[in-house]
Amino acid sequence: MLKQAETFDVSSYREDFPSMMLEVNGRPFAYLDTASSAQKPVAVMNAMVDAMREHYANIHRGLYHFSRVTTQLYEGARVKVGEFIGAPSEKEIIFTRNTTEGINLVAQSWGRTFLKAGDEIILTEMEHHANIVPWQILAGQTGVVLKYIPVTPEGVLGIAALDMLLSDKTKFVSFVHISNALGTINPAQAIIQKIRAYNPDIKIMIDGSQSAVHMKVDVQALDCDFFAFTGHKVYGPSGIGVLWGRSALLNAMPPYQGGGDMIETVTLEGSTFKAAPARFEAGTPAIVQAIGLGAAIDYMRAVGLDEIAAHEKALSVYAQEKLQSISGLTFFGPREGRAGIISFVAQWGHASDIALILDKCGVAVRTGHHCCMPLMKVMGVEATVRASIGMYTSKGDIDALVTGLKKAKDMLA
Ligand code: ALA
Repeated sequence: MLKQAETFDVSSYREDFPSMMLEVNGRPFAYLDTASSAQKPVAVMNAMVDAMREHYANIHRGLYHFSRVTTQLYEGARVKVGEFIGAPSEKEIIFTRNTTEGINLVAQSWGRTFLKAGDEIILTEMEHHANIVPWQILAGQTGVVLKYIPVTPEGVLGIAALDMLLSDKTKFVSFVHISNALGTINPAQAIIQKIRAYNPDIKIMIDGSQSAVHMKVDVQALDCDFFAFTGHKVYGPSGIGVLWGRSALLNAMPPYQGGGDMIETVTLEGSTFKAAPARFEAGTPAIVQAIGLGAAIDYMRAVGLDEIAAHEKALSVYAQEKLQSISGLTFFGPREGRAGIISFVAQWGHASDIALILDKCGVAVRTGHHCCMPLMKVMGVEATVRASIGMYTSKGDIDALVTGLKKAKDMLA
């Protein structure tokens, strides 16, 4: 793994990201907050600028040249997304605003149609708020009951509890592929196999916010029913996300929103709706952002998804080793089976104070509950410092983090 990563020329890829060449507070910018949102390569910016400069028009609505070109690029992005996650058809790819919207869409459309009071949904204590709150809203609307797979003190899912949680009332399970707060990579396939063995009719959703950028995803191999991720974490723009669902499920679901481009016919008495994906893309969509997402996927695939994953793994190991030189840090999440997300607290300083000192050193990290308040409660902390790695992260960024932390310790301890 390490040997492979040594052949990964991070400095040349880093040049593709103009913001990574900047300085902050007179220091080279050490961006360690990719789990929150990734920096953007020039290829994405160019694709978006070209879409606006060279042939901009609305899609699906014009017979003229620019509308046809833009429609082709928008629909081409859908094909790229489908290939990126191993979908059997691009017709199963719904463009959303982000992961959050994908989960809300499933909760409100599938959940409100197919679930009734007393039915059970299983989530986990590891979820970020986007995979808890939509189901709580659904529970308030329908009377469905939410249950949670516990998280162990090591920061992994207590999957054995599934044996107790699954019942003939279980209709839906949704869980995170990689924890944004701990970096834990959940054994998605094993979890899904266990659920399928219990009852193949239970529908299963994966929150792929972090996994889509850190590993090769294949929704068919995973054997899930829905998979959601967001564009801005895979080096694409914000404002665009993806929901994948099996076509039989999508086409049995009512629209989430009504409006233009999702209808077959409209009369004053009522309307009929197109099949997926159009039925879930009411109104003018995020055209330029979808094209940018397509360019981001092209970029990642050109670099190589396996190569990116190996580089991130090597840097994660490097960071874990280097951080051992600082005393008084407690790390969260497992040592093995983790992505390049490192979460810790310091006994000598509060997370926010540490982040402010790191910022002065040009190092950007995230602090707080990471939109995972229930998980933080389980881990017994209110906030952690989180350093997260992307394809452009270098050993220099990790060294800057370590130097910054030593400085923070000198100031705060
Ligand atoms: N979900 C994003 C994060 O983990 C915002 O920071």
